[in-house]
This record gives sequence, structure tokens and C-alpha cells, in this order.
Amino acid sequence: MERIKIFDTTLRDGEQAPGAALSSQQKLEVAFQLENLGVDIIEAGFPIASPDDFKAVDLVARTIKKSIVCGLARCLKKDIEAAHNSTKKAKKPRIHIFLATSKIHLKYKFKKAESEILQLAKKATIMARKYCDDIEFSPEDATRSERGFLYKVIETAISQGAKTINIPDTVGYSYPQEIYTLISDIRNNVPNINKAIIAIHCHDDLGLATANSLSAVLAGARQIHCTINGIGERAGNASLEEIVMALKVRKDAFGDFSTKIKTKEIYRASHLVSTLTGFVVAPNKAIVGRNAFSHEAGIHQDAILKKRITYEIMNPKDIGIGKSQLVLGKHSGRHALGKRLKDLGFTLDAKAVNEIFNRFKELADKKKDIFDDDLIALVQEQTKPKKKTYELVSLRAVTGSDIDPEATVKIRHKRKIFEASSSGDGPVDACYKAIDKITHLKPKLLNYKLDAVTKGKDAQGMVRIEVELKGKTIVGRGTSTDIFQASTKAYLDALNKAV
Ligand code: KIV
Ligand code: ZN
Repeated sequence: MERIKIFDTTLRDGEQAPGAALSSQQKLEVAFQLENLGVDIIEAGFPIASPDDFKAVDLVARTIKKSIVCGLARCLKKDIEAAHNSTKKAKKPRIHIFLATSKIHLKYKFKKAESEILQLAKKATIMARKYCDDIEFSPEDATRSERGFLYKVIETAISQGAKTINIPDTVGYSYPQEIYTLISDIRNNVPNINKAIIAIHCHDDLGLATANSLSAVLAGARQIHCTINGIGERAGNASLEEIVMALKVRKDAFGDFSTKIKTKEIYRASHLVSTLTGFVVAPNKAIVGRNAFSHEAGIHQDAILKKRITYEIMNPKDIGIGKSQLVLGKHSGRHALGKRLKDLGFTLDAKAVNEIFNRFKELADKKKDIFDDDLIALVQEQTKPKKKTYELVSLRAVTGSDIDPEATVKIRHKRKIFEASSSGDGPVDACYKAIDKITHLKPKLLNYKLDAVTKGKDAQGMVRIEVELKGKTIVGRGTSTDIFQASTKAYLDALNKAV
């Protein structure tokens, strides 16, 4: 049985999705779950992008032991140094360097000749190789690159020590047959290709990312780049759960390949990423969507009861789908909470568990039954960055069928408390207007979404908003049993990220 390596880029390309920003602590939680899941390589970030990115890669590198931890770099000295410095504490570090090779990118992005690009690729690989044994090289926009030049760049990178050559379909332009031919051509025309593993990196602009990745495997690629829930730039990346399950379910078609993925951890990983990023999984999303295993039509239900395989090609248990359990209540102790959090895959220190315990007790006073999803929401609140420019002190909202909605908010800012009141179209609008009076930021509200975390009338409400401020889209999230508080927390979360 041949092995396919799973290279997960949820924390890098996934986090590049507009509004998906995660704190270092949240990235670490995702990394722990990726390790539990069994991914071979975790691309933890693009360390040169910002001090926060650097810090997150460093944190993941110091903590994760089983998976390779990788940092991304352009073919620039400062990028490669940042990738090296942030991953050097990893048990198994990797530096991933990339350089565009298509005519479009050379002409409009770099304004450089092919000979200069070739030199850059050579110099960068040599430099990265001095720091790290494990180098991956990506000719960006490979699928739109001129073949002869692409072969030369790949050959150069391998000759200078790159052990993995990744072929990105950067703009999600290709289709399965084309990818098959491209990988086959690379195998047949790059003289030293046998010294490297071929990887594939597909974007989903035409909805073909999974199909293209599988086609690359058929042609000889042995590493796949993917993300949990398929999140990523624009339309996203190939989704890990689809690729892994397709390889598992259709061995007859794709071959006897194995991955190290523990498929029973897939659903938990999907749920965690969705909760922490605030990117809701579409109900009809393959493998992890709410409806992926529900059968509505009577004929289907009847047949399923007779024999599952009539309408089910996978067992939901293999993905780890089960009912959200009733876990804890008012009288549960710190120990029980800590154990349950651990079972859910969180690796929190004692201080974090203590803080969550305090919130858990507050929640248990308002809500009789606490489910796994409630705990995940508490962790999401807990792992938000601690430094808050604006903090909610108190909130009062008045509404009714025969009065104008009004709100008064008190906010702590630079150790002082500010108070403002406003009316509005509704109580949430009134809250936001009162906050605007204090902060003077006045962002444009693009999207507002309220979901119940669990079932039941006493369920917590989770609000996700998108605001636009100074040309940037920012996502804010807030959870509470009170929807006005959840809405206000979400608004302040977005403002805190913005400032
Ligand atoms: O899509 C792309 O080309 C990338 C590279 C950095 C590999 O994400
Ligand atoms: Zn990409």
C-alpha cells in the first residue's frame, strides 16, 4: 500500500480567507487537533507577514511533536530567515518557499525576466537548505506557466536540495485531465524529479479543487495540500475531508493508497475550525455538512432502514459524527470540566481551564444542560486575544412593540469607563449606535448572523458579524445566552481586531 502525505494549510492558506483571522492560542488549538487527526505536515503560517504570524508559527513549532511544522517564505532573505527562526524549535521543521513562474506573474507582478527568476529560485533554495534539511519548493501559478520554463525551475530547486516540489493551481483554473497531463509531463521531463516528492495544491475557484487533487494522485503526486472545510483564499482550497474520504471509499478507482488520517477525528476538526474562524459549514457540504448523512425522502428513509448501503456510501461514524452529548450541569466540578475539554481535543493549561470553569459556572446558572457545543463556544471566547482596546462593562437594551428601541452601553477604554445611549431601528442597532458614539469608529455593518449553539429555548446565541472599516473586512464573534449581549460582544470583537 502506498502512502499519500497530507499537508494541511488551514493555518496559512485557510487563514488567508477574508475574515478568518485566528489568535495564536486559537491556532495552537487547531494545530493540536490537526496532530490528533494525523496530518503529516502542518503549514502553521507565513511568519514574515506580521509579528503575530511569526509568534503563532513559533508557538506551534515549539509545541507540536508528531507532525512536521512548516513556515512559508517568498524567495527573499528576510522571509526565509523568518521561516527558519519561527520553525527552528520544531521537532521536525520544514521551510516552504514559493516563486511565481507564469508569464502573467513575471510580467505584471515581478517585471522580471525568466533568467532572473531562475537565479532567484536557485539562491533561495540554497539559502533555505543551509537552515533546514526539509525544503519544499512551489512554482506559484504552475498550471498557467510555460512548460519548458517550469521544468527548468523545478530541476534547479531539486538540484539545490528541495525534497518536495509542490504544483499549485493558484487561481483554481485547471481541470482534472489537464492536471493529470501536467503532473505526468513533469515526471517525464524533469531529469532529477525522482529525487523529490510531487505535491499538489489546488484552489476551488471552479469547484474542481478536490477532483484536481485526486487526478494529480492518479498521475503520481504523493502529497496533497488541503484545508479543513476547504477554507482558503477566495473560493478556498481543496478540502481535507473530501480528499481523505474519497481515497478511502474509492480505492477501486484511485488505488490502494493510505493516509495517516484518523478519520474519526474529521468531524471534530471541522467543527473546531468552523467555530474558531466563524466560517459556518454549508449544510450540504460533502462529508461534514449537517445534511451530508440525513435522508429526507420517504423512499430513501425506508431503504436506509432496510440496508444502509442503498443510499449511504460512508458510515457517519467513520467521520466521528455523533450526537452532541449532554455533558455537564450546574453541579459538575472543575475536574469533570477539564476532562471533558481534554476529551474534546483541547489542550489547555490549568489557568485556561480555571477561566473556562468560571464562565461555565456563570453559564450553568442560566442554562440547565451544557452540551459539548456549549463548551466549544466557551473555549472560543477564552482563546480570543486577551488585549482588548474596548471592553464591555454593561449593557441595557429596551424594546417592545409600542416603543422605540433604546440602548445604553458602558465600555472600558484605556482604563476609563465611557457611557453612551442611543435609539435605533432595533435594539441591536441601538447598541451599535451607542458604541459608535464612544469609539467614533462607525464601521459599516456588512453581515449579521445569529445561530443557536445548541438546541433548546435556553440555548446560547452565537453572533457572527462582518464589518467594513477603512477598506478592510473584519469578522467579529460573540456568544451569550442573551442575544443583545452576544451581538454587542461580536461588534466589540470586530472593533478590537480593527484597532
Ligand atoms: O496558491 C498558491 O499558489 C499558494 C502558494 C504559496 C503555494 O498558496
Ligand atoms: Zn494557495
